[in-house]
Amino acid sequence: MTILPDFLRDSAKKVRTTRETRLAKRQRGETFERFSLSDRRALIREYHPDFREDGHRPLAMGASRDLIVPTELANLLEAWPRPKIASLCEERATLPPPDMATDILVIGGGGAGCAAAITAAEAGARVMMTTKLRLGDSNTVMAEGGMQVADHECDSPAQHFLDVMGGGHFTSDPALVETLVMDGPGVLRWLEDLGMLFDKYPTGRMKVRHGGGTSRKRLHASGDVTGLEMMRVLADRAACLDTITVQPFHPAVELLTDDNGRAAGAILEEIPSGTLRVVHAKAVILATGGFGRLHLQGFPTSNHYGATADGLVMAYRAGLPLRDLKDCQYHPTGVVYPEKLAGLLLTEKFRGLGAQILNRHGDEFVFSLEPRDVTTAAIIRECGEFANGVRLPGGETGVWLDIPMIDYIHGRGTIEREFPGRFKEYLRMGLDIRQVPLLAYPTLHYQNGGVVIWQDGKTDMPGLYACGEVTGGIHGHNRLMGNALLEILVFGRRAGVAAARFAASSGEARNPGIGHLEPFLEELAAMSVPRERIAPRLLPGYGRVPHY
Ligand code: FUM
Repeated sequence: MTILPDFLRDSAKKVRTTRETRLAKRQRGETFERFSLSDRRALIREYHPDFREDGHRPLAMGASRDLIVPTELANLLEAWPRPKIASLCEERATLPPPDMATDILVIGGGGAGCAAAITAAEAGARVMMTTKLRLGDSNTVMAEGGMQVADHECDSPAQHFLDVMGGGHFTSDPALVETLVMDGPGVLRWLEDLGMLFDKYPTGRMKVRHGGGTSRKRLHASGDVTGLEMMRVLADRAACLDTITVQPFHPAVELLTDDNGRAAGAILEEIPSGTLRVVHAKAVILATGGFGRLHLQGFPTSNHYGATADGLVMAYRAGLPLRDLKDCQYHPTGVVYPEKLAGLLLTEKFRGLGAQILNRHGDEFVFSLEPRDVTTAAIIRECGEFANGVRLPGGETGVWLDIPMIDYIHGRGTIEREFPGRFKEYLRMGLDIRQVPLLAYPTLHYQNGGVVIWQDGKTDMPGLYACGEVTGGIHGHNRLMGNALLEILVFGRRAGVAAARFAASSGEARNPGIGHLEPFLEELAAMSVPRERIAPRLLPGYGRVPHY
C-alpha cells in the first residue's frame, strides 16, 4: 500500500474521487474538448517557453546570423574553441600527423550514429565511431514510449505525413517528412530482422497505440524501454561488423576541413585526460544528439548526460546553416515527485493508454493527447496563472498524471505488463503506480531544429553528413511522439549509405586542418566575446566536469 506524503495526500484523494465520473465519461466515448486551431496557437504563444522573449536572442555572427535561438545555445555557438585548439589556430600551427585514419568517421554513439555506421560498413567502408561516453550512452536509450510507423491496414504513410506536417504547424521540410514516413515500414522490418522485440498480440500482430496529435494508432513499442531495446540490437549489429571500430570517451571537439572546403575528419579530446587525437577521414557523419543538458530557461531535462549541443557548435563554426532552433520540445510530463527523478520522463504512452492529466482538484483541463506543445502550454497556464497545480514544500508545482486509470480501462495487470521499467522503478521508491497518480510538469526533452540536411543526410559541406537530433527540418517547430526513434534510423541509415558512396568516389582529403576556424575567431574577437566562453562544453556544468 503506497503512502503519499502529507502535502500530496489530499489532492491525490481528489483524483480518486473524480475517477469514477471520468471513467464513465470515457465509456460514453466523451473526451475533454480539444482546442480549436486558433486556440492552440494562442495558448502556445502565451504560455509555451519558446515564446518567452527573455529566453532567446538572435545570432550575431555565422551562417545563420539573425536566427533566433535560445540564449544558452547562442552563447555556445558564439564561443571560443577549447583552449588547446584556439592556441593551435591563433599560432597558425600545423596540426600533428593523424593518430588515426578511416574512410568514415561517425561522431556519436547513439541510435543515429549506430545506424549510420552499420549501413556504411555494410556498403564496404571502414568506419570509426567516436563517442563522448560509451557506445549507446545517448538519448536513444532514454526513449520509452515508441516509434511511429504506418504499417497497419487502416493507416498509410500519407496519413503519417499529414500528422507530422500538422503537428509541426506546417513548418517541416516536406521532402524530409516524405522520406521519414515512406522509409518507416522498411525500418520496422529491418529492426525485426535485427532481433528487436516489439509489443505484439499472441497472433504475432504488432500492437499499435496513439501518441499525441496522431490521427491513427501507429506507435510501436517495446514495453516502456523502446529505445533501450533498439540500442541493444543496433549495438549488437555494429559489434558483428569487423570494419567498425569504436573509440569510447573521445568526444569530437572540432571538425577538420581540407583545402577544398570538404570535411576531412575531426579532433577528439579524450575524457578525462584531455589528450587531443587527430582523425583523418574521407567523410564525416555528425550524430551528436541534442541539447537538453543546457537546461534552457532553468528547466529540468529528460535528456542523457551528454546532450550538450557539441555537434551544433562544431557545425556552426564550420559554416553550416541551422534552422528551427528557437523551437524546443518541452515534454508535458516530466517527473516532479519524487524529486530525485525530477525532469525524467513519464512516457506519453501512459496517456496513449488512457492516463489523464488533472489539476489539484482532480479535474481535467486539457485533452491528454493534444500535440506536445499544446499540452505543455496548458499545464504551464494551469500551474501558473490559474494556480491549480499541486505545490511541493520546495516551491515546485505539478499536475497529476492519473496512471491507475489504465488498469481500470484495460484490466488489471496492464500497467505492469506495458510499463515494466517504470513500474519496478517506482515500486522501489515506495510508489505503486497501479494505485497512485504521479506528479508531472513539462521537462526539456528535444531539440526540434538543427543542422540543415538533405534527404540522404548530406549537409552544405561536401563530405559532411548529419543525422538524428542534431539536424533540423523534419519536425519543424514541434515534433510528435515516436518520430524521433524513426528519424534516427531513417536518416542514420541514409547518411551511412551516402557517406560510404562519397568516401569511395572522392579519394583522400587535401591537407586536413582547422583553417575554417580563422575567420570565425576573428569575428569572435571583433565582437569581444569573453575568452572564458568556451565550447563545445562536452559535459553539463554540474557534477564532475573536464579540466580547463
Ligand atoms: O513520451 C515518450 O515516450 C517520448 C517519446 C518521444 O519523445 O518520441
